[in-house]
Amino acid sequence: MDKGKKDFLRLSDISRDEGLKIIERAKDLKVRLKNEVTYQPMKGKTLAMIFEKPSTRTRISFETGIYQMGGQPIYLGSGDIQLSRGESVADTARVLSRYVNMVMIRAFSQDMVEEFARESTVPVINGLTDLTHPCQVMSDLFTIAELRGWHLDDLAVTYVGDGNNLTNSWITAAVTFGFELTISCPEELMPDSEILSLGMEKADGKIKVEEDPKVGVANSEVVYTDTWMSMGEAPDLKEWKLDLLKPYQINEELLKSAPKDAVVMHCLPAHRGEEITDEVMDGKRSIVYVQAENRLHVQKAIMDILNQRQETSGDS
Ligand code: CP
Ligand code: NVA
Repeated sequence: MDKGKKDFLRLSDISRDEGLKIIERAKDLKVRLKNEVTYQPMKGKTLAMIFEKPSTRTRISFETGIYQMGGQPIYLGSGDIQLSRGESVADTARVLSRYVNMVMIRAFSQDMVEEFARESTVPVINGLTDLTHPCQVMSDLFTIAELRGWHLDDLAVTYVGDGNNLTNSWITAAVTFGFELTISCPEELMPDSEILSLGMEKADGKIKVEEDPKVGVANSEVVYTDTWMSMGEAPDLKEWKLDLLKPYQINEELLKSAPKDAVVMHCLPAHRGEEITDEVMDGKRSIVYVQAENRLHVQKAIMDILNQRQETSGDS
């Protein structure tokens, strides 16, 4: 997102300062919305949203967000456009760029989203791939900053469970923002090895792997988890994964090992009884619903900043 980066595809696309700027902008947008102050910098503009996978939060936060900022969303499900019949990613990007002002994509392949962004002349936002989910983690950092009085100093987060697209984005975020991250996953279900080794190399000891979840959560103020079966994963892996992941369930017993004031986060959708119990989801430590709400404010901030950048670059 820095100096000419028109897209938001990974958390390595932004610097720490730019990340803090997104948080600042989202804070402002949240206040404006609560006070019913209209802010419509995207009046007359359109956001195409391509979804190869289902979504509740991402779709609705982007759709509501662009509408609140004066623009118009165009929802494109996987079967709705010629991409599903073999039209190339490059041609789709070149054509869409001539109609719309911004594109958000939820896709299986990170490469597809990156290729689309290279061919698109309008900003492209990654709304989740098999590899990453940068909008979610950016929004989660906003939620954490809000909870801590608007700073991320000396933050320590533990990710517990399946090493997946969320874990990968947490690793990149820890490098970008410089906080402590403990990855507590079974050996067989570690996050992407390239992202993890690069992250550990760059993080100067701040990213740790701790297979034992009780040890993993011991010093963290945020205990984070996600589904054990991500969208698109082969169903025949389920039994094997659930068995391996049983000790990684976020339940009251595990939380006895965490600091007393540690909060629990989950990007949702949750599979209650698998990665998290009802008791924890609905309990005092859980901040999952404010976390979900904040997707709206942060998605708006990302769109607003990318839109402003595009306008000043003269390409709008
Ligand atoms: N957390 C998240 O991205 O949720 P959806 O899959 O509902 O968009
Ligand atoms: N890891 C999950 C995140 C859902 C928001 C998935 O990819 O299905």
